[in-house]
Amino acid sequence: MRFLLAAILVPLVLVAGFLAYALSPREIEAIAPPARVSFSPVAIERGQRLALLGNCNVCHTAEGGRPYSGGYGVETPFGTIYGTNITPEPETGIGAWSLEAFDRSMREGIDREGRHLYPAFPYDHFTKISDGDVAALYAFLMTREPVREAARANDLPFPLRFRPLLAGWKLLAFREGRFEPDAAADAEVDYGRYLVEGLGHCGACHTPRNLIQAERRDAALRGGVSAGWTAPAIAGEAAAAVPWTQASLETYLSDGFDPDHGAGAGPMQPVGVNLARTPSEDARAVAAYLMTVLQPRPALPPPLADPAADPATIALFEGACLFCHDGAASGGARGVTLDRSTAVQAEDATNLVNFLFHGRQPAAGSAGSHMPGFAAALTNDQAEALVAYVRARYSGLPPFPDTAEAVRAARRASAP
Ligand code: HEC
Ligand code: HEC
Ligand code: HEC
Repeated sequence: MRFLLAAILVPLVLVAGFLAYALSPREIEAIAPPARVSFSPVAIERGQRLALLGNCNVCHTAEGGRPYSGGYGVETPFGTIYGTNITPEPETGIGAWSLEAFDRSMREGIDREGRHLYPAFPYDHFTKISDGDVAALYAFLMTREPVREAARANDLPFPLRFRPLLAGWKLLAFREGRFEPDAAADAEVDYGRYLVEGLGHCGACHTPRNLIQAERRDAALRGGVSAGWTAPAIAGEAAAAVPWTQASLETYLSDGFDPDHGAGAGPMQPVGVNLARTPSEDARAVAAYLMTVLQPRPALPPPLADPAADPATIALFEGACLFCHDGAASGGARGVTLDRSTAVQAEDATNLVNFLFHGRQPAAGSAGSHMPGFAAALTNDQAEALVAYVRARYSGLPPFPDTAEAVRAARRASAP
C-alpha cells in the first residue's frame, strides 16, 4: 500500500515541480522610480477614485500605519496573508516596478520578480479592469509618498508558503480576462457591473468559496464570509428582511443609515466609507446593477407576541438596547427597528453576535451611525440569552442553531 502511494506520489511531485519550474514567469526588469511630472494630473486624480473603489487602502495599510505601506493581515482559512507595501519606495515598495510589471500583478497575480501572488489579493477581480484604469492606478500609486517598510512574513503552514504551488491553484481556479461590456444593457447598470465584478471585488466577501477557496461561479454574490462575519446574499434572493430599493441601496453603500436596512459594519464599513468619497454616480451605478440581480425575500413569518425569557434578560434588553432601536432615537444613535435587521433575520447568529460585541464606530471625522460594543460588559451566558431573546422577539423564524458557538467564536476573535 505504502509502495503504491509512493509510486503515484513521487512522479506526481516531480512532474508538478518540473511544470512549476518550466512555467515560472519571467522577472520584469527594475526601473528607476518615474518622476511625478511623467504622469498627467488627470490620470492621478482618476487613480485616486479607482483606489477608493478598489479598497487598496484597506488591505495595504496597517492600523496606525502610513497609507499604502502594507502590514494589514487578510485572514483566510489557511492563515494570515499580509498586504504589501505599494508605495513607490524602490526596495520595500513598488518603486522599481514598470507599468508592465504593475499591470501583470493586477491582471495575472505575479509580482515583478516573477513570483505568484496569493489570491487574498483579489486579482481574480482586478483582472477585469481596463488598460486605462490600470494605468491611472499606477499613476496614483507612483505619486504617493514613498515609505520604507519591509513586508511582514505571511503566517501560513509550510506547504502553502511555497509560492509555485499557486500556479496549480491558478490553473484550477483563475481565469484572466477583461470585463466584457453588455451592449444590450443600460449604460449605468453595465458600469455598475464593471465596478462590482472588477475593482469593487464584492464577490471576494459576498460569494461562497469552494474547497480550494476559489469563488463559486455558480453562486456569485449569493452570500459568503469575511473575517468572522457573514456577508449576506446581494444577488438572487436577498438576505435583507425589507426589499431593497435603488435609493436604500445608494444610501447604504455610501456609508449612510437607511431606516429599512441600517448601516454597514464590520468588513463592510470601509467599503461604504470609500464609496462615499467617490462621485455619487459610482454608488448609484452599483445600486442600479444590484437591483437587476436581486429578488426580494419571501415575506417573513411574524414574531410571537411576548416570547418567554428570564426577567434579567428582558431588563437588559430594555435597558441597554431598546432606546436606540425603537424607531424614536435620532441622529447617529438611531439603529433599525430589529425586525428589519438582516442580522436578526439571518440563518445563523454570527452577525448579530458581532454587532452585539463590537457595535459600530463611525469612521474618524464622520458623524455616522454609532453603537457601543458590549463584549466587555457581558458574560457569554448573558450574551447568549440576549441574542436568543432578540431573535424570538423580532423574528418568527426558529431559534438560531448555533448561538453558543457564535458567542464563543466572537469572544475568541475579540481576545487580544
Ligand atoms: C482584500 C485585500 C486587498 C485589497 C482590497 C487589495 N490588495 Fe493588493 N494585495 C493584497 C495582499 C494580501 C497582497 C500580497 C499577496 C502576496 O503576498 O502574495 C497584495 C499585493 C499587491 C501587489 C503586489 C505587491 C508586491 O510587492 O508583490 C500590488 C501591486 C497590489 N497588491 C496592488 C493593489 C491595488 C492597486 C489595490 C486596489 C485597487 C489592491 N492591491 C487592493 C491584498 C489586497
Ligand atoms: C447608542 C445607541 C445604540 C445602543 C445602545 C444599541 N444600539 Fe444596536 N445599533 C445602533 C446603531 C446606530 C446601529 C447601526 C445602524 C444599524 O445597522 O441599525 C446598530 C446596529 C445594531 C444591529 C444590526 C442591525 C443591522 O443593520 O442589521 C443589531 C442587531 C443591534 N444593533 C443590536 C443591539 C443590541 C442587542 C443592543 C443592546 C445590547 C444594542 N443594539 C444597543 C445603535 C445602538
Ligand atoms: C471585505 C468584505 C466585503 C466586501 C469587499 C464587500 N462587502 Fe458588502 N458586506 C460585507 C459584510 C461582512 C456585510 C454584513 C455587515 C453588516 O450587516 O453591516 C456586508 C453587507 C452588505 C450589504 C447589506 C446586506 C444586507 O442584507 O444587510 C450590501 C448591500 C453589501 N454588503 C453590498 C456590497 C457591495 C455592492 C460590495 C462591492 C462594492 C461589497 N458589499 C463589498 C462584507 C463585504
